[in-house]
Amino acid sequence: MANSRNIGIDLGTSNVLIMQQERGVVLREAAVVAQEKSSGKVLAVGDEAWKLVGRTPGSMQAVRPLRQGAITDMALTSTMLQYFIKQVIGRRLMGKPRCVISVPSSISDREKRDVVSMLLDAGVGRTQLLERPIAAALGADLPFRDNWGCMIIDMGAGASDIAVLSGGETVVSSCVPHGGDYFDDAIIRYLRKKHNLLIGDRTAEEIKNSIGMAMEPMGDTAGIFMNVSGRNLVTGLPRTQKIDAMEVYEALREPVNDFIEAIQSVLQHTPPQLATDVFEDGLVLSGGAAQLTGLAETISREIDIPCRVVNDPQACIVRGCAKALEDPDAMRDLLENGRRRLLGR
Ligand SMILES: Nc1ncnc2c1ncn2[C@@H]1O[C@H](COP(=O)(O)OP(=O)(O)OP(=O)(O)O)[C@@H](O)[C@H]1O
Ligand SMILES: [Mg+2]
Repeated sequence: MANSRNIGIDLGTSNVLIMQQERGVVLREAAVVAQEKSSGKVLAVGDEAWKLVGRTPGSMQAVRPLRQGAITDMALTSTMLQYFIKQVIGRRLMGKPRCVISVPSSISDREKRDVVSMLLDAGVGRTQLLERPIAAALGADLPFRDNWGCMIIDMGAGASDIAVLSGGETVVSSCVPHGGDYFDDAIIRYLRKKHNLLIGDRTAEEIKNSIGMAMEPMGDTAGIFMNVSGRNLVTGLPRTQKIDAMEVYEALREPVNDFIEAIQSVLQHTPPQLATDVFEDGLVLSGGAAQLTGLAETISREIDIPCRVVNDPQACIVRGCAKALEDPDAMRDLLENGRRRLLGR
């Protein structure tokens, strides 16, 4: 049933997005919870909690309840999700909204049922799950229901889903850990080795998003730099170091190559006719990490295939979830019905 309060949710490792058909993206917040260490009391959720990462006093901790595409803390995931949903749908009990949610590919059936339970507790009515690659393909408007091969790669923080779809199904897919966090870790390792400088996750992400490049910086871009604060591993004291774009490119070269190899491996396992379609139409990138400067160009050059990034790539999956809500009958074959976990309740 069409209901303007129905919601699509992308439960990501680093961000949660909620979309309503008529209002567009209504929530885009960091998947972070800050809590008091001693009591576990929740102090902040979402962007407010993200501001505290790396800056919390000893008595407080800011945690991401999902890591590397998996739920690492179910209780905190529940707290976070319920907080976000209440912000969007309020507490009205009449006319509970339907929900289509996309969850990390690697979570178990039991975790999926837990997520459905959390949504019911948060005031959502019927909940259906949508596979990530299908959600991304819907969000990117790919003709994946035709008998034609389409390739979509959703590059998030904790993982990347690489998939070839055809006839409304996923034909070949792989969920690899080469997401934005993997790139951040490479920057941390590089600065530790080259400059004896220890930086935190948040700083590494800022470096990547500001001056990170997948292609060799040339001309004007070669001179771009950033002053980075960290701890000198020799003296143990705080230090600020000038880092330029060429260094970040060097740090990211290996993880970018790993990512390209993962794409090649999926193509090698793709039936030849579908692979021909993909090489003709090109591959499509979504997810926040697809915004790394020069990534699409580098993939295109290395694999010799057209490659483009969708508009607002971070919202591609939630767009797909909202689209699946529009016409539930037409989408029935794509959606998985969620069930509440009954055991132990
Ligand atoms: N301009 C940018 N350049 C490079 N990476 C970026 C940029 N902006 C955001 N990112 C990265 O995108 C990632 C977040 O993307 P997204 O919100 O799609 O992830 P997620 O859905 O939460 O994670 P996952 O899909 O793995 O569960 C982070 O690693 C972030 O650093
Ligand atoms: Mg994601």
